[in-house]
Amino acid sequence: SEQSTATSRIKNTDDGISMQHEYQDIIVSEISGGVLTITLNRPEAYNALRTQLLSELATVLQQAAADDEVRAVVVTGSEKVFAAGADIKEMAALDAVGVLNDPRVLHWRTIAQFPKPLIAAVNGFALGGGCELVMHADIVIAGDNAQFGQPEINLGIIPGAGGTQRLIRTVGKSMAMQLVLSGEFISATQARDFGLVSEVTIPERTLERATELARKIATKPPIAVRQAKEVLLKAYETTLDSGLSLERKAFTLLAATEDRNEGIAAFMEKRKPNFTGK
Ligand code: CAA
Repeated sequence: SEQSTATSRIKNTDDGISMQHEYQDIIVSEISGGVLTITLNRPEAYNALRTQLLSELATVLQQAAADDEVRAVVVTGSEKVFAAGADIKEMAALDAVGVLNDPRVLHWRTIAQFPKPLIAAVNGFALGGGCELVMHADIVIAGDNAQFGQPEINLGIIPGAGGTQRLIRTVGKSMAMQLVLSGEFISATQARDFGLVSEVTIPERTLERATELARKIATKPPIAVRQAKEVLLKAYETTLDSGLSLERKAFTLLAATEDRNEGIAAFMEKRKPNFTGK
């Protein structure tokens, strides 16, 4: 549906029934092959991330975190735009106290804490908060029409959803400074060269490729997947020594899982593993 008001279904496994949810700014797919797809859907505002949109995104991710059937999530926009950033019209109405108390800060935190793999399929503009949302994803697949940037400087502000910190850790100092200080955009291939994106494809295939990856990950043992994500992300904020120690502990913990025994047994017996998430 191209409409900005969408009705979607998400399975609620707590009570075993399918519940109907209404979303204004996003479209949520059925769970298919362990993958839930969230499409940002405010075409009239280039998917600007108003509070409503971020709140819906955070709500769905919270539900997806608690739902064993969801093993990975793909987040995408349209062919032309992933997201053009914070909603500038909404932002204009906030004074300093409004910004201080902005509920979006909590929504961003929820997105950052999503414990399962989050894959972004990016076509077109990913600017400001849109680029920051991309950096909340664990894997980024971009169409060759994608453009990434942090143009906040043109508005007299700076990135406010982690852009300064995640960008410098992702693309290094010179490119992070270039993007944030000049407001210039970079292409999908530049973004790939700098590690912001892992693969570039034709725009028609971006979502397909992201979904393919998500489905592959969805077949892997879920406890190991979650541990891997947690330990990898820790590398951003810890010393090598503590990071290695955390890795060792997670590695040890996994030796106590049934899926580890199954994975090793399947290899030895030359058969496909049957992972149960235990
Ligand atoms: N907020 C609100 N509305 C937006 C928007 C945004 N971030 N970006 C685009 N729109 C709206 C435009 O106002 C316009 O609506 P109307 O037709 O009602 O005027 C519509 O989307 C289409 O936009 P344009 O006419 O500008 O389209 P274009 O193709 O000429 O340009 C663009 C596209 C380069 C993305 C341009 O829209 C643009 O520069 N957008 C703003 C990008 C930006 O500055 N983002 C940073 C926001 S601040 C932030 O994100 C803070 C943070 O860290 C959380």
